[in-house]
Amino acid sequence: MSIELRQVCFRYPNGTLANEDLNLTIRDGERVAIIGQNGAGKTTAVKLMNGLNRPTEGDVTVNGVNTRQHTTAFISGMVGYVFQNPDDQIFKTTVRDEVEFWGRYHRLPEEEIQRRVRRAVDLSGIERYFDNNPYEIPYSTKKFVSIASVLTAQTPYLILDEPTAGQDVAGVACLARLVDTLSGEGTAVITISHDMEFVAANFRRVIVMAHRQIIADGTPEEIFEDEQILREARIKKPQIGELASRLGYRNTLQIGDLVAKLSN
Ligand SMILES: Nc1ncnc2c1ncn2[C@@H]1O[C@H](COP(=O)(O)OP(=O)(O)OP(=O)(O)O)[C@@H](O)[C@H]1O
Ligand SMILES: [Mg+2]
Repeated sequence: MSIELRQVCFRYPNGTLANEDLNLTIRDGERVAIIGQNGAGKTTAVKLMNGLNRPTEGDVTVNGVNTRQHTTAFISGMVGYVFQNPDDQIFKTTVRDEVEFWGRYHRLPEEEIQRRVRRAVDLSGIERYFDNNPYEIPYSTKKFVSIASVLTAQTPYLILDEPTAGQDVAGVACLARLVDTLSGEGTAVITISHDMEFVAANFRRVIVMAHRQIIADGTPEEIFEDEQILREARIKKPQIGELASRLGYRNTLQIGDLVAKLSN
């Protein structure tokens, strides 16, 4: 089972060409990070995966189903997408209503709705905001509300668009736990992030986008040791990686690895 993009181009109605010749396979249970500078085409590309965008050219298939031939509601039942900006996603006036929405819309039994909501709320750490209006809570928490509401769909693929933006240390740690738990259960997690530390620590596959295209696809070590890719995509190595390379160590992106090498 997989998400496949084959020779995909996407042009917005105003004529902007945002994705060009994307070829990509994401398999069941994979952990994938998509990185690249602002405007590279990352959000446009992931919206192609859940049917919010349909390719202008080429094909996108999810578990063998072509997104052109099905509704966004159907595709998004397989591929959950958490919006970059939670205000584009949240529309209810309490966190409870927002997180219960998916189950109610799909007329799940009450017991099942509550089971899914409880799990999503626990994983997202938003328990104490349950009765708040989403518009009255901090941006960072609002992002977790938008994550929780998508989690209730329990899709085999989950896309998080910039979940680390605006998060403090505790928020980033909660995201790392969430990725671990979901991927441990077999969910494929696809994350867009500008936080290279988060990417290097939590993902074993990194896709680099620049000027509408995928310019690299590899392990964090392959990507962050390639100066040409970093330059072309205008991305920075994680700081530990930078420090390690100045100390003469390659393929060292995490603090534990650097400490091990230094104490040898
Ligand atoms: N609704 C839209 N209509 C027209 N052009 C758009 C629209 N949304 C995005 N674009 C343009 O498409 C290109 C790719 O945008 P996209 O949002 O996919 O980039 P991104 O990599 O997600 O950037 P960021 O890191 O800032 O979120 C940009 O040139 C952007 O201005
Ligand atoms: Mg984006």
